[in-house]
Amino acid sequence: MQFSQIAAAIAPSVTLKLNAQAARMRTAGEPVMHLGGGEPESLAPDAAVAAGIDMLQTGRIRYTPAAGTPAMRDAIVAYTARFYGREVARENVMASAGAKQAIMVALLALVDPGDEVVFPVPYWVSYPDMVRLAGGTPVPVEPPAGRYEPTIDQMQAALTERTRAILLNSPNNPSGMVLSEEFIRAMVTLCEQRGIALLMDDIYHRLVFDGGRAANVYDCTDRGIDESPIVVLNGVSKQYAMTGFRIGWAVGPQDLIQAMSSIQSHQSGGPCSLSQVAAVAALEGKQDSVAQLRADLELRRDEMVSLLRGIPGLKVNVPGGTFYCFCDCSAFDTDSVRLAAHIIEKVQVVTVPGAAFGMDGHLRLSFCGSVEDIREGVLRLRWLLDPDSPAELVAGDRTFRK
Ligand SMILES: Cc1ncc(COP(=O)(O)O)c(C=O)c1O
Repeated sequence: MQFSQIAAAIAPSVTLKLNAQAARMRTAGEPVMHLGGGEPESLAPDAAVAAGIDMLQTGRIRYTPAAGTPAMRDAIVAYTARFYGREVARENVMASAGAKQAIMVALLALVDPGDEVVFPVPYWVSYPDMVRLAGGTPVPVEPPAGRYEPTIDQMQAALTERTRAILLNSPNNPSGMVLSEEFIRAMVTLCEQRGIALLMDDIYHRLVFDGGRAANVYDCTDRGIDESPIVVLNGVSKQYAMTGFRIGWAVGPQDLIQAMSSIQSHQSGGPCSLSQVAAVAALEGKQDSVAQLRADLELRRDEMVSLLRGIPGLKVNVPGGTFYCFCDCSAFDTDSVRLAAHIIEKVQVVTVPGAAFGMDGHLRLSFCGSVEDIREGVLRLRWLLDPDSPAELVAGDRTFRK
């Protein structure tokens, strides 16, 4: 059978593949330490679970409007007022099956074949393929050596007549870096001047540590929501530990949201009605689980960073947010895919190669799992990477050999 050009051009998500591999190894009884994950281990908020159960018991789980139920859209409007200080109308928002679909639908609404979408390196693993799926050309912008954020000039130099959007993510997966307000402001100005979209992926915006906060993109413009090309992408997956519910959203100018909703109406229809009810309950309910998650993650971040600093040769960047620690491992192997494969094979620790994020010579280590997994995982890594460590490592009933 002959497949389409798109099918040939798109690779499966590296991170989802690694998750599947870790699950397979665990099922086979292997003592895998999964430092490659992308979801908190905490539970969904009680209110979300209760609302979902109540609805399920009615047996009426029906289609919803393509852009989401009125209640879902109103909850997104209220969220935008509460966490961004920006009043928007129901027509400015739409719900999707995760932020992933919201980003994809935005790209489909903006990009024609050959159009370009510019984003910083390192980038979230899906961005290049999402741009390709929309028929566009991804334009990743490399930062100066040793840095994890391109300069404003580098971003500006990457823009051409074909650029349709700049795509930003802060705090960033994989680097954990929180983009400065100065940088975001410059990107907003560039987009407004050129009439191109600024897609702001804020999926981790409430998971910022050390009392800091992610810059609010709306503070960087004087224009009203319908006059500015800013599109905020967000969702319940990370902040409320509701990854499997698949609810995300977009907030933007009404005409774009209308176009995105039309596309979504033919693609998947409205997001799952049960999940929307649960998401509304999470957004409108007590917010203490988010504060708790942030505090738990900060402790895990501190633990991981201090343990990783004990590995000679590894350059550890302290993440300001998210649940990822992005380390420069080029002293061990500049080929991160080979290094990650070696680590799984030798000590059964799952990490994600930096190459998947456009930055080779790095590994992404997640600290969203248990503290025990972090400790055990980094212990094994340290043993493997330290040339002076003994030839064998005994971990429980398992002995690893170099
Ligand atoms: C930067 C970034 N954006 C978007 C997403 C997608 O989130 P969702 O689960 O809402 O589709 C992820 C998930 O890993 C992410 O890391």
